Amino acid sequence: MIYFDHAATTPVHPEVAAVIQNSLAEDYGNPSSTYALGRQTRQHIEQARRIFAASIKAESADIIITSCGSEANNTAIIPTALALQGKGKHLITSAAEHHAVLHPMNYLETLGFEVTYLPVDAAGRVSVSSLEGAIREDTILVSLMFANNEVGSLNPIAEIGDLLAERDILFHSDAVQAYGSERIDVVQQHIDLLSVSAHKINGPKGIGFLYRKSSLHLPNFIHGGSQENDHRAGTENTPYIRGFAKAVSLMEAERDDSNQKKRELGNHLLTELERSGIAFEQNGNYLEGVPHILNIWLPGMRSDKMLIQCDLKGIMLAAGSACTAGSLEPSHVLEAMYGKGNPRAGESLRISFGADNTTEEIDSLIALLQNISRKQYKNG
Ligand SMILES: Cc1ncc(COP(=O)(O)O)c(C=O)c1O
Repeated sequence: MIYFDHAATTPVHPEVAAVIQNSLAEDYGNPSSTYALGRQTRQHIEQARRIFAASIKAESADIIITSCGSEANNTAIIPTALALQGKGKHLITSAAEHHAVLHPMNYLETLGFEVTYLPVDAAGRVSVSSLEGAIREDTILVSLMFANNEVGSLNPIAEIGDLLAERDILFHSDAVQAYGSERIDVVQQHIDLLSVSAHKINGPKGIGFLYRKSSLHLPNFIHGGSQENDHRAGTENTPYIRGFAKAVSLMEAERDDSNQKKRELGNHLLTELERSGIAFEQNGNYLEGVPHILNIWLPGMRSDKMLIQCDLKGIMLAAGSACTAGSLEPSHVLEAMYGKGNPRAGESLRISFGADNTTEEIDSLIALLQNISRKQYKNG
C-alpha cells in the first residue's frame, strides 16, 4: 500500500493516538463541572488552546475549538455576514476555494447576499489587484484560502491582509492546507478569522479550530451551552482536543525537516517523470506552493481511470479534493485556473506527500503511470 493522499487526510501520529487513548480514560469528566475531575479536564483544554493560539501568534481568548475545518469555515462566514448585513451585503471569495467556503457563500446568496468569486491565475493564485477592483462600499467580508487543497498554490496573504485592514473589511482565510507547512502570524498578516483542521497534520478527524478576534463580538454559529467562552455550544471533545494539541506540538518541532523531505519527494517525482518520457504538465507551480501537494496533467489519460488502475496496485491518490471523489465531475479548481471545458480538469492527478513517503514509492507510481500510458497508446 502506498499512500499519496495526505491532502485528503493524514495518518494519526502514534504519539497523538497515545494521548487520545489516555485522555479517553482519564478525562471523562465534563469540563463544565466544577468538581476536581471537571476542573482538571478544563485545564487540559485550556492548555491545548494555548498551544493552538501560540502556533498562529494569537491570544488564547481568540481560539474557538470546532468539530472540523468545515465548521470553522461556516462559523467564520455565516454568522459574520448575518451580523454585518446592516453595513453591507457584499462578500468576496475566489472560484478556487474549498466547498466548505463556496457552499456557505452559496447559502448566503439565497438569503440575499451578493458574492463576487474572484478568478485565479494559471498558478491558482488570486491577484491583489483583482481583489482591489472587486471591493465595494458594501463589502463586509473577504474569504480567501491560504493554500489551495488541489494544486497547493499559496495566495499573497500578507498583501491581502494589508489591503483589507486599510479598507476596514474583515479577512477570513481557510488555512486548513497551509497550517502544516507555513508560518502563520495572524497579527502581522492582518487576518481576522482563520480556519484549521487537525486531520491534515497527523491529528484526528473531527476536530479543528477557528481563530476569531473576540473583540469583534461576532455571534455564535452553534447555540446552546456556554462552552468555548460562550462562542460555541457543545460538550468539548477533550481527548481529540488534547490529541490535536499534541499533533500541533509535533508538527512545529518537525516542520522544517518535514517540509524539506516533502520538497525532495516532489522534486524527485518531477525529475523522474521528465526522465520517464510520460507526457505531462504541472497544474500550478509546485515550487511556489506548499511542499506536500503536486498536481499534474497527463494529457489524454482520464483521471477516474488512472485512479482505478492505481487503486488496483495499492497506490492511493486523488484527482481533486476528497469531497468530490467518487463523482465524475471535473475539478472546479482546475476549471477556475484553465477555463471550463479544459481537458486538464478531467485528466489530472493530485499526488500529496507525507514525510514518511519514500523515493522508491514514487518510482513505483511512475512505473505504473508508464504502464497505463503505454496501454492507452496501444488501445488508441
Ligand atoms: C482547504 C480545505 N478547507 C476545508 C477543509 C475541510 O476540513 P474538514 O475535513 O476538517 O471539515 C478541507 C479538507 O479537505 C480543506 O482541504
